[in-house]
Amino acid sequence: MQIIRDIAMLRRAVSALQQGGKSVALVPTMGALHEGHVSLVRMAGRVADHVVVSIFVNPTQFGPNEDYAAYPRDEARDAALLAGEGVALLWAPDVATMYPGGHATHIEVSGLGADYCGAARPGHFDGVATVVAKLFNQVRPDVAIFGEKDWQQLAIIRRMARDLDFALDILGAPIARDKDGLALSSRNGYLSKDLREAAVALPDALKAAAKAIAGGGEVAAALAQAEADILKGGFDSVDYVALADADSLERLTEFRKPARLLAAARIGKTRLIDNLPVG
Ligand code: PAF
Repeated sequence: MQIIRDIAMLRRAVSALQQGGKSVALVPTMGALHEGHVSLVRMAGRVADHVVVSIFVNPTQFGPNEDYAAYPRDEARDAALLAGEGVALLWAPDVATMYPGGHATHIEVSGLGADYCGAARPGHFDGVATVVAKLFNQVRPDVAIFGEKDWQQLAIIRRMARDLDFALDILGAPIARDKDGLALSSRNGYLSKDLREAAVALPDALKAAAKAIAGGGEVAAALAQAEADILKGGFDSVDYVALADADSLERLTEFRKPARLLAAARIGKTRLIDNLPVG
């Protein structure tokens, strides 16, 4: 596996991989790879001839009081894992390569980024959309894979790629979960043993709410119950539990398909997100 940090070298290497009409799938990541990322890499390997993974802890998607500095980084470990998965190329630029001095352009996907995680993390999705657009232009893949765990992020990236005419397919990969149902996340590593055990209250509450809504229960009552269950299970606060149109992310007060339950909640110093389809 080649590890590349320079854009001109990256372009040459990707063109070489695409010779003879071969396809390239990109899996963008911030490193600290876990089984969830491995499932994205394996999906990429099934849909394209070659897999490129990017690792870049993107400063512009972290707020001033968020965990940018503390975000786990272990490139050697990540690279060994990716090499073992048959990844062709690791794109690992530094901050100065991604954002050279004077960088002044950003992308805002209006509306879709305002609610849910966007409300709790102002500017977060502008940072995500900007870095993902840059990764698409740098790598020029045929397809890119994103986890469905961040459903709002996936919807924003799909809209951005459509609006800006990026010539690639975007695929969502199903959420990888631990045995007890907690969605895999690099941030789960921040949790003590007790908090990790309690965190299962989040997927459990979403499962119960999805069942109630799909079974004809009142949406507001199911959402209120889910919020109460998450807090009772040991979370300190709930940023949101909402039923949303799965594509437009519009909040739904009545169930209609396609719908997605979205939630974010804080336990200790850690903010976890999760979502489930309904019906
Ligand atoms: O989901 C992530 O890991 C990040 O938001 C992404 C898509 C790699 C952009 O930095």
